[in-house]
Amino acid sequence: MRILGIESSCDETGIAIYEEKKGVTAHQLYSQVKLHQEYGGVVPELASRDHVRKIIPLIEATLKQANLAPTDLTAIAYTQGPGLIGALLVGAAVAKSLAFAWQLPAMGVHHLEGHLLAPMLEENAPEYPFLALLVSGGHTMLVDVQGLGRYEIIGESIDDAAGEAFDKTAKIMGLDYPGGPLLAKLAEDGDGSEAKFPRPMTDRPGLDFSFSGLKTFAANRIAASEDTAQARANIAQAFQEAVVDTLAIKCKRALKQTGSKRLVVAGGVSANLVLREKLAELMASVGGAVFYPRHEYCTDNGAMIAYAGFCHFKQQTEHSTDNNHEIAVSP
Ligand code: KG4
Ligand code: ZN
Repeated sequence: MRILGIESSCDETGIAIYEEKKGVTAHQLYSQVKLHQEYGGVVPELASRDHVRKIIPLIEATLKQANLAPTDLTAIAYTQGPGLIGALLVGAAVAKSLAFAWQLPAMGVHHLEGHLLAPMLEENAPEYPFLALLVSGGHTMLVDVQGLGRYEIIGESIDDAAGEAFDKTAKIMGLDYPGGPLLAKLAEDGDGSEAKFPRPMTDRPGLDFSFSGLKTFAANRIAASEDTAQARANIAQAFQEAVVDTLAIKCKRALKQTGSKRLVVAGGVSANLVLREKLAELMASVGGAVFYPRHEYCTDNGAMIAYAGFCHFKQQTEHSTDNNHEIAVSP
């Protein structure tokens, strides 16, 4: 089974091929970050247009990289949502058109399921069941994962996502888009002298998050402090500590609630090294293990969509009686 995966939900065009026996055999990514930088955020119209420009050459490059012809493929998986509607439509239209032309089935994949399953692409892949912390620019959630397609959201952000809070705070500090990694870099120079930021919603029971207050807290601290690089680094460090600590506190609660000893962390913010250190400490303290995708699969990419598509196609094929790849195509 060989699946072509297409990701186009936001500002990355990601194409990959996942092969049942070999894993990911080709992976191409085009990031639009530079295009959107001057606007301080993703401009949906520009994103759609750039996907149109890049998607076919990237698919050609991916097939070439894997040394495959379209006839070698079993199916096409594409990101169905959530995401920017115009950007999603480009991926869906291309996937369905190619599927029609090449006489293959096409399947829509939930973007967050792609992130959730990305750690399965690693050698040390987690077994089901596990607890997943999904932290991206659009979502922050804790998911009780019992098996493929058996997901229960047990906590989520009631306002900004963790990545969104990083990006907005970075913007207030004058950093480029996407600000998350730049803020994390700036925080490395913090000297620990900045006062502690609050840990939102940790003083009450439950697994939900709220990060928009931290951004406002940071804005007030910036306005009240000296305009020096050191002061900004100190604020960045205190902000990052607050986000990371809050995520870790809720993970600890969720592990207790679910009884899980396996924690999967995925989505763009899972690239954050301070978060990784903190969660490694947490899992060591409870005798468990934490799993991540490799760095290039933390943010949006085609490999996670190809893999999630593969899992579903395989499940459907195994459950179909005639076993001739007559797979249901999602809307
Ligand atoms: O998963 P992703 O690529 O796209 C969405 O589906 O949203 O996540 C992007 C988010 C951005 O908000 C970005 O600032 C954040 O992940 N991010 C980070 C780091 N690397 C990426 N945030 C904090 N620290 C990082 N090292
Ligand atoms: Zn994403």
